[in-house]
Amino acid sequence: MKEYKIEAVVHIYELAELSEEDRQLVEAAKKATEGSYAPYSKFLVGAAVRLQDGVIVTGANQENAAYPSGLCAERTALFAAGAQHPKQPVVALAIAARKGRQYLAQPISPCGACRQVISGFEERYGVPIRILLYGTEGVLVSEGVKPLLPLSFVDEDMRI
Ligand code: THU
Repeated sequence: MKEYKIEAVVHIYELAELSEEDRQLVEAAKKATEGSYAPYSKFLVGAAVRLQDGVIVTGANQENAAYPSGLCAERTALFAAGAQHPKQPVVALAIAARKGRQYLAQPISPCGACRQVISGFEERYGVPIRILLYGTEGVLVSEGVKPLLPLSFVDEDMRI
């Protein structure tokens, strides 16, 4: 038996410690919660992605009466970016969530399926995506999705 230790390093910043660019992306994610359609969970999530050319594309969770048919904010934003700007790598992604008007104190982390899609975008463009998870008490920053998704399934795994 061998042991393989997996280490994940993320950083938690106060909003004021972030660069202007990062703060702008977080603000875009917060604003994007206004587009959330969440009549079932009442959990409003916004996501904003920055492309390499500086363009910001946003998304929000979209729910459906057939619950699994809905989509998270992160994938809504990423797929919109991929469809509308297929040549532009995604370089950063910010997420914000609120219940009613109150943003959550602790950041929420993307679900497993969204992590897999973020990983797919990193593969697609060969660029790590800086992930900013907003909470009123701090912003968790991960340099790329790998710390959030170790041992991920990637293109390489399908090669024999
Ligand atoms: N949700 C997101 O949009 N992103 C996340 O990171 C976690 C969950 C959405 C899905 C669903 O509409 C609601 O939040 C409750 O799970």
